[in-house]
Amino acid sequence: MTNEILRQLHERKSVRVYDPDRPVTVEEKRQLLEAALAAPTAGCMCLYTILDITDQEIKDRLAVLCDHQPFIATAPVVLVFLADWQRWYDSFVAAGVDAPRTPAEGDLFLAASDAVIAAQNVVMAAQSMNLGSCYIGDVLENGEQIAELLNIPSYAMPVAMLCIGAPTQQQKLRKKPVRFPLEALVHENGYHRAGPEALATMHSARADSEKNGFPEAVLAMERRKWSSTFMAEMNRSVAAWMNRWVKGEVQG
Ligand SMILES: Cc1cc2nc3c(=O)[nH]c(=O)nc-3n(C[C@H](O)[C@H](O)[C@H](O)COP(=O)(O)O)c2cc1C
Repeated sequence: MTNEILRQLHERKSVRVYDPDRPVTVEEKRQLLEAALAAPTAGCMCLYTILDITDQEIKDRLAVLCDHQPFIATAPVVLVFLADWQRWYDSFVAAGVDAPRTPAEGDLFLAASDAVIAAQNVVMAAQSMNLGSCYIGDVLENGEQIAELLNIPSYAMPVAMLCIGAPTQQQKLRKKPVRFPLEALVHENGYHRAGPEALATMHSARADSEKNGFPEAVLAMERRKWSSTFMAEMNRSVAAWMNRWVKGEVQG
């Protein structure tokens, strides 16, 4: 690697088991959160809110609601990143704008980009501090219960969650999962749709055993993820979030 940032980008991997003897200090958490705020943000509007979950009962509940992942409850730091137009909507009203338009789908996607980019700054800040992190995509599930648990208003929506803590020795030694080859993921000047042969080559390129190649890995992915009940729940929940967002269903 040619420099420290590139080295750390390549070394980072998800950490799901945390060293109980190495807590995250108050100062470290502040640095992580300040790193989030340093991220690029559309129009410098800071279209996100970070929920710092310190209450163990809420962590326990999130571990259940986010597809039953017990390690969430063991993480020293749990951060939920909301795409958030509520702050601006309320500011428009407070500033005297007469009936401001309500946020729509495009606004949501822009705010979601802001929130995820801020989250990724935290991931790399953690890496630089010898802390590990793991995204929790399942924070998109059970939206109604999560909205109530975290008191989330209509024009805000969780788009990412991070568990953070010091990696155990076993986690440090774990192999980083292999990606698809560069040429499969980078297309020059427009999208080049892959045919069956190129797809088989792409999947086989990262197989570490015969059982993990093509079509086995694809069939396993279809069965374990694409057709799973948790992905069905995620899609139901996000449709409900979008309804709530676009229609302002619970707007006071
Ligand atoms: C959007 C997103 C959602 C994820 N959700 C989960 C999750 O719910 N639980 C989990 O254990 N890991 C989750 N991960 C971590 C991925 O499994 C991990 O990034 C992937 O396997 C690649 O491994 P690496 O991060 O160690 O390089 C998520 C990652 C991303 C980017």
